[in-house]
Amino acid sequence: MSDECHVCLLGLIFLSSLLTGISGVKVTNVFISSGENVRLSCNNALHDLKSTTWFYNRFRDSAAVELIYLGIKKKDTESHERLSLGSDCSLNIRNISKEDYGSYTCRQYVNGDQKQGPDAHVYLHILHVSSSQTEISAGRSVTLFCQLYSFAEVSCDDRIRSERIELFWVNQAGVKLTRSDSRYQILSSSDHCIITLNTTLLNEDHNREWRCEVTQRDQVKSSVTYTVKSSGEKQAHQSVMEEFLLDVQL
Ligand SMILES: *[C@@H]1O[C@H](CO)[C@@H](O)[C@H](O)[C@H]1NC(C)=O
Ligand SMILES: *[C@@H]1O[C@H](CO)[C@@H](O)[C@H](O)[C@H]1NC(C)=O
Repeated sequence: MSDECHVCLLGLIFLSSLLTGISGVKVTNVFISSGENVRLSCNNALHDLKSTTWFYNRFRDSAAVELIYLGIKKKDTESHERLSLGSDCSLNIRNISKEDYGSYTCRQYVNGDQKQGPDAHVYLHILHVSSSQTEISAGRSVTLFCQLYSFAEVSCDDRIRSERIELFWVNQAGVKLTRSDSRYQILSSSDHCIITLNTTLLNEDHNREWRCEVTQRDQVKSSVTYTVKSSGEKQAHQSVMEEFLLDVQL
């Protein structure tokens, strides 16, 4: 293949990755873990806050909720205390919660009612990890659940397939934990949107890290780390059994 064709092939790949939304609408996929802050770009030329409206749909068929209307933040939305409008018309969301997943749209108007350019569509995907318990002792089993909350036109399953999204648990060295590793039971839900890690804690697990990663087209997009901590002072009668706390870090 000539160099020129490599360039046009790359161009096509780039273009197709932009055009993955419904009916060829340009969509940006953003992956983030709960607790983090995110900035969603309005992506257009008009840097005029007073012409900018952001709205949100959690599901395809749910009614759109206006978050920002012509530069002014609506006060009646669940997330309003965590939202702000950036000087470039981007939408900033602090301390992401798993309920923030969905589709965000930026629309700009000129002269009051004329739409300026195409809308910017952002699909926000949120990685969230929880555990069956926060305190545990050596010899007891623990289950960590890692779930991707995604805007889905169809099902979570179809989105994961069409966007080539995958969830993994990896160890401290970044090596993927698999079913064949006898220490761990790794289970994927039938729709592939939850991956669970079940293991029995050992005395030597203090400070051990397990990380859940979400990848799209084999690139890591976001991750959450669980660290096992010894819970400090132990009573004499507990000396045989180490007690642990599980800490989530982004
Ligand atoms: C972030 O939100 C969680 C609830 O989702 C809350 O418990 C926590 O205190 C918040 N953190 C900050 C820094 O506001
Ligand atoms: C985790 O694995 C242990 C040992 O196989 C099992 O007893 C326990 O029920 C499992 N826990 C969950 C929540 O699947």
